[in-house]
Amino acid sequence: MAGRINDEDVKSVRDAVPIDTVVSEYLQLRPAGGGNLKGLCPFHDEKSPSFHVSPSKGLYHCFGCQEGGDTLGFVMKIEHLSFSEAVERLAAQAGVTLRYEQGGYSPGRQQGERTRLIEAHKVAARFYAEQLATSPEAEIGRRFLDERSFDQAAAERFGVGYAPAGWDHLVRFLRGRGFTDLELLASGIAQDGKRGPIDRFRGRLIWPIRDITGEVVGFGARKLRDDDTGPKYLNTPETPIYRKSQVLYGIDAAKRDIAKTNRAVVVEGYTDVMACHLAGVTTAIATCGTAFGAEHVKILRRVLMDNSSSHRAGEVVFTFDGDAAGQKAALRAFEDDQKFAARTSIAVSPGGMDPCELRIADGDEAVHKLVESASPLFEFAIRSIVDQHNLDTAEGRSAALEFAAPIVAQIKDQAIQHEYAVRLAGLVGIPDEGFVVRRIGQIARWGRARAQGQGAGGPGAPRGQGERRGNAPAPVAAPPSPVGPPLNLRTPAYLAERELLKIALQFPALVAPVFDAYGEDEFTAAPYAVVRRVIGEAGGVAAADDAFLDRVREAAPDDAVRSLVTELAVEPLTLPRRRQAEVDVHAERCLVQVRVAAVERRMRDLESTARRAEAQSGNTTAAEVRQELWALEQYRTALKERGAEALYA
Ligand code: GTP
Ligand code: MN
Repeated sequence: MAGRINDEDVKSVRDAVPIDTVVSEYLQLRPAGGGNLKGLCPFHDEKSPSFHVSPSKGLYHCFGCQEGGDTLGFVMKIEHLSFSEAVERLAAQAGVTLRYEQGGYSPGRQQGERTRLIEAHKVAARFYAEQLATSPEAEIGRRFLDERSFDQAAAERFGVGYAPAGWDHLVRFLRGRGFTDLELLASGIAQDGKRGPIDRFRGRLIWPIRDITGEVVGFGARKLRDDDTGPKYLNTPETPIYRKSQVLYGIDAAKRDIAKTNRAVVVEGYTDVMACHLAGVTTAIATCGTAFGAEHVKILRRVLMDNSSSHRAGEVVFTFDGDAAGQKAALRAFEDDQKFAARTSIAVSPGGMDPCELRIADGDEAVHKLVESASPLFEFAIRSIVDQHNLDTAEGRSAALEFAAPIVAQIKDQAIQHEYAVRLAGLVGIPDEGFVVRRIGQIARWGRARAQGQGAGGPGAPRGQGERRGNAPAPVAAPPSPVGPPLNLRTPAYLAERELLKIALQFPALVAPVFDAYGEDEFTAAPYAVVRRVIGEAGGVAAADDAFLDRVREAAPDDAVRSLVTELAVEPLTLPRRRQAEVDVHAERCLVQVRVAAVERRMRDLESTARRAEAQSGNTTAAEVRQELWALEQYRTALKERGAEALYA
């Protein structure tokens, strides 16, 4: 049991630290009138500030979620601390010495766990820094920093250190400072060895990772030697005080300038954060060995005061040193959080250099330039998709449009969506802006309808649809698409098949349900046969809904087939403009044409089988074959005379 903290001491702690100072560590506060302050509530998601702080009363209250209390309550709640831990934390900040009742002060047993772990990190960070500054063994670390243009002052500013290569230098040092093995293991500084705890980081350069208040809560450790078989970077594992989904390296140093300039720059590594700050980009932060996620957004949002009533919207610039990584991240951002995405910009560095390398190669100015070169996320995402296609060909342009259109359609803000639709038309080189705008509007409506359909049996959602969607996209284990000499899929021989697939993808209702009965073998071009199969795997045209095309694309066994599907889904039908209204007639004609061709192929095969059989006396199959041939002939005649009607017979 922890000793009880003296009541008077609790009171002096409460009085010593103004509530607005404490709260400001976590969110930006601005005047709310009457001496009060307000900001975005850290305890629930909100877009406009309803979190009020009264410095004169020492209280906070959120009118949105009804959370409220005093300074200690705030610290307990936001840091997940017990009462005594919160008191200890504030006391440390204010320099108040606490008295414990029932037996007095004895470190290790009476302080809260968090406080002990923080303390262990503080001591460890000093130990590492001292090693880097003085130990001969750390020469390799000093050289590493020097090679990256970090001098001693830079190392000190960021508290960079060196972990000696032995098994347990730090463990022994910390034991000598009164830390128990249990505490060392819980802190992540040590790990289990064969004979008790050993140092987790050995022979590595160390970056202390601080939380937003500046307390060291973990370490990032870079490999320095070739015989180190571990990963390039090792980080503190998840501990009670270190959650990688929430830590942002550099946030303690950057938060004031982030709030002041309403902009944050997210880079990819510890050395990049250092390089940026040294170059004067003092709003730089980085995640620690993990992708930038929703938890990080939440933390940044509070510092940025990202809300609609603010006249200056916060901006977050992501820098990437590779196109691919940037694209992936950009596309992911759409899924998460549009409001955040709209404030996001992407900067991809020239020549794949990260800010640290950029600073070495071209100096501080180049780092500034990189950050300034950022373009809005939406634009970046669209451009990177468009760039993957050859815009010199009609197919390339339609594929570019078809892949980029869903991105634009996902933009919820109508005005911004329209703006980007027009921009997309320009980027792809489609003169008819209206066409692009309409296409995007259509995809957006499908998307909305789909989203509604996913609500449990919501009105208007066709029955069974959700279920089908759940297991429909099954692209796994599909046989590879056929290889062989390239086919010219636009030769007349294949035109009917091509046209029919276009209709199946673009106007599935017009060919349902008969198309679903068409065999793969009715398509003589192998790629078309695969597309036919894939449509079947996606549930067939009879089951087509607004997610149909997505399903077909997902079911495609590879990118080549997927891009063919896309091409077919966007290529205009070979109908003269003035006859667009006759698309249903056209659809039936195509169905008949493909079927007749298949019937005739079959008849040719049967004809030769029959002849061979008849050449051998006593062969009984001949009669059967003739019988089937006769039936096929009737069918062909029916198709030719009655058209599609014959298909439904
Ligand atoms: P140098 O290339 O030596 O200049 O170091 P760097 O910091 O530029 O490394 P890099 O660009 O490869 O990595 C950037 C960031 O990604 C690092 O700061 C780490 O946070 C993370 N990272 C890289 N490699 C690893 C790894 O092996 N494990 C983990 N957990 N994180 C890594
Ligand atoms: Mn790097």
